[in-house]
Amino acid sequence: MTTLKEKLFEKIQEWRPRTEKLVKEHGDFKIGEVTIAQAIGGMRGVKCLTTDISYLDPNEGIRFRGHTIPDVLAKLPKVKNGDMPAVEGFFYLLLTGDFPTQEEIKEVSDEFNKRQHVPMYVFDVLRAMPRDTHPMTMFSAAVLAMQRESVFIKKYHGGMSKMDYWDPTYEDALNLLAKLPQIAAYIYRMKYRADTIIPPDTSLDMGGNFAHMMGIPKPYDDVARLYFILHSDHESGNVSAHTGHLIASALSDIYYSISGLLDGLAGPLHGLANEEVLRWIQGVMDHMGGKIPTEEEMKKFVWDTLKSGQVVPGYGHAVLRKTDPRYMAQREFCLKHLPDDPIFKYVDMLYKVVPPILEEQGKAKNPWPNVDAQSGVIQWYYGLREYEFYTVLFGIGRALGVCANIIWDRALGYPIERPKSLTTAMLEDLVKQKK
Ligand SMILES: CC(C)(COP(=O)(O)OP(=O)(O)OC[C@H]1O[C@@H](n2cnc3c(N)ncnc32)[C@H](O)[C@@H]1OP(=O)(O)O)[C@@H](O)C(=O)NCCC(=O)NCCS
Repeated sequence: MTTLKEKLFEKIQEWRPRTEKLVKEHGDFKIGEVTIAQAIGGMRGVKCLTTDISYLDPNEGIRFRGHTIPDVLAKLPKVKNGDMPAVEGFFYLLLTGDFPTQEEIKEVSDEFNKRQHVPMYVFDVLRAMPRDTHPMTMFSAAVLAMQRESVFIKKYHGGMSKMDYWDPTYEDALNLLAKLPQIAAYIYRMKYRADTIIPPDTSLDMGGNFAHMMGIPKPYDDVARLYFILHSDHESGNVSAHTGHLIASALSDIYYSISGLLDGLAGPLHGLANEEVLRWIQGVMDHMGGKIPTEEEMKKFVWDTLKSGQVVPGYGHAVLRKTDPRYMAQREFCLKHLPDDPIFKYVDMLYKVVPPILEEQGKAKNPWPNVDAQSGVIQWYYGLREYEFYTVLFGIGRALGVCANIIWDRALGYPIERPKSLTTAMLEDLVKQKK
């Protein structure tokens, strides 16, 4: 059996000529135009990034390595005694494009377990922070604190061929990914469970071990696996993935890149939205006195939210134009495991009520729910009720996808990013000239 790293190297060698040929022979080929609205409006839709890890089709949703979410969940081998695939197997798919066998998954799982020891100083950094620090700040600081462990930067200073950059980046990525669940669980138990830390159980897979360290019984191990997989990647233009890629493009190592992506993820328009969704739904529940509202009552509440100038959290998307398949995968889980949960009933009713209202309001380009509309309810149900922590879970997942992207960025020699800015006066002049 070849190891993941050997397999990856084979794939890299096969892939490199494709990228080289495109740049060398077709570098001038135009793939789009940029409008003033895009230059001012967050570069929305500008085609200027390349990744093969995932692709987001506006009408179909995300495909990982060409495979839809239902396909990925069906085709990846499941963990023993669980309904979900191992996260390690999914990472193998992200890196190589191939579905792994059980033996190959075991090999990655063993690699993760070998590397999972978190240095003591990371816990010291976390303990030195005020206990009411946001868990995302703690998570990002813990990752940044470990930058001194970077294999890449040591090799870089020792002198290394560009062709080899991917190798120590792979080492950094595995070293970091293996530690993230333990760091996250530590933050959780330190902050919200009276500092009762549960040591890791290295006989378990990543999702299983995370559930164990969180102190939450089955089927939370499956929840963790599903959550990490669904949140891993959404092509490379969203804030967290793009931040990770951008930082790495300066040859900053994985630790800097992942810490930075977590900071972007912490914004309320991005990863923090899952926390906003639950806070908002509980506001609805309080407002309705805990009873399940009629559709009319719910419609009124949604309209009141919009009229007060707020967005409906968990709805809309910058690229997607249909219900997020990540929402659907979690909805299926809810229908199987918690169909009678009162919060799920609210979520379910919002699914009926919100899209027609957003359509009628006519502002949001996508009236359908995104991943965040559904994820908090599952966490809440299994006792994870400190919703400021939800984005940390998102961060573990997103790190998987971004690490895979950065390893490939290095392998294909993607250069430092440097888009060009214009001034407002220049844009005005361009318009005048055209007239
Ligand atoms: C995700 C989001 C940030 C995408 O932003 P975007 O690409 O600018 O979205 P659009 O192009 O559709 O926005 C056009 C208008 O519709 C509004 N809009 C978009 N989604 C909305 C929502 N869920 N509720 C109310 N209004 C919404 C925008 O605020 C914008 O209004 P403006 O013209 O007054 O500024 C946006 O849909 C949003 O704020 N959703 C709620 C937060 C959320 O769920 N985030 C998680 C995303 S995974």
